[in-house]
Amino acid sequence: MTNLSGSISRERILVVDDSAATREVLQRNLSSKGYHIFTASDVEEAFHILGKEKFDLVITDLKMPKISGLELIKYVRENLANSGIMMITGYPSINGAVDAMKSGAEEYLVKPFTDEELFSTVERVLDKLHKRHLVNSAVVLAKKHGIIGQSKPMQEIFRLIDKATSTDAIVLISGESGTGKELVARAIHYGSSKCSAPFVPVNCGAIPDNLLESELFGHIKGAFTGACETRAGFFQTAEGGTIFLDEISDTTLPMQTKLLRVLQNKEICMVGSSRARRVETRILAASNKDLSLLVKKGLFREDLFYRLNVVNIVLPPLRERESDILLLLRYFSEKSAKAEGKQPLRFTDETLQVLIRYSWPGNIRELENFIQRLVIMLDRETVKPTDLLPSMRYSLPQSGVYKTLAEAEVEHIQNVLDSVDGNKTRAAEILGIDRKTLREKLSHTRDSSSSNPI
Ligand SMILES: Nc1ncnc2c1ncn2[C@@H]1O[C@H](COP(=O)(O)OP(=O)(O)OP(=O)(O)O)[C@@H](O)[C@H]1O
Ligand SMILES: [Mg+2]
Repeated sequence: MTNLSGSISRERILVVDDSAATREVLQRNLSSKGYHIFTASDVEEAFHILGKEKFDLVITDLKMPKISGLELIKYVRENLANSGIMMITGYPSINGAVDAMKSGAEEYLVKPFTDEELFSTVERVLDKLHKRHLVNSAVVLAKKHGIIGQSKPMQEIFRLIDKATSTDAIVLISGESGTGKELVARAIHYGSSKCSAPFVPVNCGAIPDNLLESELFGHIKGAFTGACETRAGFFQTAEGGTIFLDEISDTTLPMQTKLLRVLQNKEICMVGSSRARRVETRILAASNKDLSLLVKKGLFREDLFYRLNVVNIVLPPLRERESDILLLLRYFSEKSAKAEGKQPLRFTDETLQVLIRYSWPGNIRELENFIQRLVIMLDRETVKPTDLLPSMRYSLPQSGVYKTLAEAEVEHIQNVLDSVDGNKTRAAEILGIDRKTLREKLSHTRDSSSSNPI
């Protein structure tokens, strides 16, 4: 299987079943997919093997002579945090399946199952395991230039940052709001030979247009009313270092003309002076708007766009970086927890599913704020889907994981029973069936959890 970082891995799976036929079918099918398969014919043998070897996944039958699969599930859950567990059962029995899920099996598979069902269930458990591992365990965080990320798109970003640090070329950094444009700009500056000189960020959109020119280039005494003395601008402050022209799309066309002149000649004119001065300042620029689109609309100078667009780093939105969402959840949860004197958050599989599917319109900034709020507000460490914002839960598709009708029925009956504290009369009423039918469904499923042949 291909894991989140895209590398091919050979996961180790232990199959525990008293039926030789089932063991053989599983071994043959799963080996053909590249998994490394071990088998045991009962729970005792499984304990023995688990004491010696490490596994990514344990697949166990439920009903076996001597010790039940449930014992094995409990053992794995309590002792082997890095292993997934999947149960095979003869029928989606209310007791068997629910007990198995309660005791910690990630998934269960009902016999008879197709090869496809087997593969997709195994992949689902391993995928959950991998996500849980990234977000909850103390592996070293993939961090470069102070930037968290290990997804394919981020590896490409790191490559571009490395290139950008070894040249003085202008770099245009684009991407949605909160994707880390300023972080990348800082990484380029501090990784470059100019790192000991200042890094000066200028938010072009936040400075009133009539002030921007003098803020950038400085002014001489008497240049305008209120210019009581000569003052240096950001370009001079950043001399020998880097100026970061943030939100460059927000500049007016006349200002763009002045910037173009600086970019072409490497010279600036202080406001009120006609003397051009040379500046040795590296220029980085960022925009969260599509500059080529603004050029088409006549809102951005085409020649300035080409000047800026020598090296373009386009930051992908968070929703396109699944594995990074997991790393960032952990990074910010550890950071906030430390600041608050609390333990880092832990995320259930269901919570992770919601957070991965959420579209994160504010990207990393939104994720950071969200985690900070959770750390402060929650009185426990485990984050459940109900702790998330309704807008996040709303974005979860209705049918994330497909269940068979029989499985859905089992789950629904159990939920209703739980909600009425096991009162069968009330449960039957809510379910719209009579007590006898409910009793039949319960006893039928209870009896038939023996291991059927596949
Ligand atoms: N990959 C990352 N790893 C760790 N922190 C990150 C990462 N990307 C962004 N951040 C953090 O997220 C926040 C937003 O990042 P930044 O200000 O660089 O985004 P931006 O693209 O400049 O946003 P805007 O368009 O709103 O200006 C910052 O606190 C930054 O430190
Ligand atoms: Mg920014």
